[in-house]
Formats: sequence, structure tokens, C-alpha cells
Amino acid sequence: MAIRILGTGSYVPPRALSNFDLEKMVETNDEWIRTRTGISERRIAERDVLTSDLALEAAKRALDMAGIEPSDLDLISVATVSPDRPLPSTSCMLQKKLGAENAACYDVLAACSGLLYSIEIANAMLKAHKKYRYALVVGAEKLSSVTDWTDRSTCILFGDGAGALVLARDDSGTEEDKEFFIASKLGSMGKYSDLLQIPAGGSENPATHETVDAHMHFVKMDGQAVFKLAVSGMVKACRETLEEAGVDPEKVAWIIPHQANMRIIDAIANRLELPLERVFRNISKYGNTSSASIGLCLDELNRDGRLKDGDYVLLTAFGGGLTLGAMLIKWYNKK
Ligand code: UT7
Repeated sequence: MAIRILGTGSYVPPRALSNFDLEKMVETNDEWIRTRTGISERRIAERDVLTSDLALEAAKRALDMAGIEPSDLDLISVATVSPDRPLPSTSCMLQKKLGAENAACYDVLAACSGLLYSIEIANAMLKAHKKYRYALVVGAEKLSSVTDWTDRSTCILFGDGAGALVLARDDSGTEEDKEFFIASKLGSMGKYSDLLQIPAGGSENPATHETVDAHMHFVKMDGQAVFKLAVSGMVKACRETLEEAGVDPEKVAWIIPHQANMRIIDAIANRLELPLERVFRNISKYGNTSSASIGLCLDELNRDGRLKDGDYVLLTAFGGGLTLGAMLIKWYNKK
């Protein structure tokens, strides 16, 4: 029995918001944003486009590549911090839009590490139960809906998008050597929960006129503190994952780090002594898309034909929670 990736898909809304556009909204400038973050533009969804709509487009593309129908799905997981509504789950909204009536649906809230947590859970469920054959794993965010467009320290960072993958349990007994999941290290640091948060909208601060007036329904971040913890956290998780797998860093064909800040990405590559040409980056086009980030990268690499059979791909992420993780996968192109 092996778990395989049958397809990937991604979607970003068409409207790009450039650094020059932001110059007209808050006191900032293109040079500051590019040199401090590596971001040139980000995609912003229209008012009536929901997180589940972004997820839907990415999911359709992944299902199409996998060659399966929505009705084949046994599991649908959506990682998001910007759900359509607090209740029900965005995965149930996606199920409705896909018409995937046979799937059990659940959301994962692990912020920027959300897709790694989702893959870990789906992989374990597929391995544990024969009744689950196909899982759709999506990271989707409409971060523009939880962004404070008057706060220059955060609004320059975030963008909207979705990335998806289809995982399948293969019981044929002939595909053992095509197992995608090699090793992982997930972790959390709840003691730093205040460093990156949306303070209101939950049981602590239910919505009131005051919470709205105080902009408490938007993402707040202590950027410098998160920056330092992100670099050390992701480097440690990557090292531990590679050690568990017994794979040397030079054997890694691609590392896909969460796209939060170009300086964080460069620092990770530097500390792991990985050449920059093996470090995937698309942050300049999309900014930080939280749970969607790694799925967007993986699909871009896959569709560009840059992933070869047997390639080791190291995924790593860090975000609100704080949560962190690394995952080593082995890539096989669908024949
Ligand atoms: O995805 C989840 C994980 N998230 C992350 O990993 C993000 C981690 N943090 C970061 O990426 C960076 O900390 C930021 C990009 C958020 C900020 O960069 P920084 O180099 O840490 O800047 P800073 O917060 O130390 O601010 C430096 C200066 C300040 O001015 P003073 O106090 O030195 O006069 C800020 O007020 O830059 C100012 N500043 C800005 N200036 C122009 C802050 N935001 C802006 C802005 N435009 N948008």
C-alpha cells in the first residue's frame, strides 16, 4: 500500500494590487516593500468571491489532473484562517460547490503551516482506513477580508489564493516505491499566541461595535518577533525531518518554504546550505497567502515540469499559533 499524489491545482484571482497601488493607500513605498519583503504585487479577490470559491477553482484543477470526479472523494480538508463563515466549515462550503457528496469534510486551522498539517492528517487517515481512498487537501485564503488596510505593517504583506492536491491510497501492491510521504516534523508554540492573531470574533471577544471600531477583526502581527522565530523554527524542523529520513540536504531537489518574506527564505536556504536555485520562490507575485502558499508553489513547480520522478521536495512553513513544520516528500509524475 502506498499513498500517492495524483494531482495538484492552484488558483489566484485576476486582480493584482501592486506596491505602487499601496503607496496611494498607506504611507509606504515600493522600494521599502521590495527590499524588506521581496513582494512586488499580490492578488485580491472581488467582494463576492469567497475563500471557498478560490478553493473550488484550485480543487477543480487538481481533480482534473488526477483524473477523478468530485463524487470519488472520501475526504475534503480545507486549511484556512479566512473561512467563508465561522460556521459551517469552508470544506463543507467547498463540498457543496463541488458536488462531492460522498466526502467527509473538515477544516484545519494552523495558519501558514495549515497545508502541512492537512497533508499529515490526510496521509494518516488514508493509511489508517481502507474506506478512505481519495482525499482532496486544499489551502485557501481570502486574506484581504481579514487585512487592516490602514495598517502599513501588515497590509503590504498579504494576498489571496488557493492551492490543492489530490492524495490517493493505492492498494495495488505494485506501487510501494511510489510512496510520496517520507518524513515530517510538526510543532507548535502556543505560548507565542499573541504574536500573530485576529483578536476578535471568537469567544474571547465576540463581535461588538467596539471590536469593530478598534479594528480587532483584522490580523495583528509583531513582525520582528515572528521573523526571528520563523527562521530558527523552520531551520530546526527541516534539519529534524531530513535527519529522520536519513537524507542529506544536498539530495533535496527543491525546498518550498512558506512565502512570508524573501529575507526569511534566504536565511533558511543559507543556514541549510542549500543553493538558491533549488529554493522555490513566487512571493514577488503573490505575497504571503498563509495556508495557500505552499500549495500555490507546488502546483507552479509541477505544471512547469520542473519536478522529476524521484525528486526529494522539502516543504516548510511557519505561522500563527505559533505553528511550524517541515515535510519531506518524494515526487512521482503521474503517468
Ligand atoms: O506568515 C506568517 C509568518 N509571518 C512572517 O514570518 C512575517 C515576519 N516578519 C516580517 O516579515 C517583517 O518583520 C516585516 C516585513 C513584517 C517588517 O519588516 P522589518 O524589517 O521587521 O521592519 P520593522 O517592523 O522593524 O520596521 C522598520 C521600520 C519602522 O520604522 P522606524 O521605527 O525604524 O522608524 C517601521 O515603522 O519600517 C517602518 N515600516 C514601514 N515603512 C514603510 C513598517 N512598515 C512599513 C511600510 N512601509 N509598509
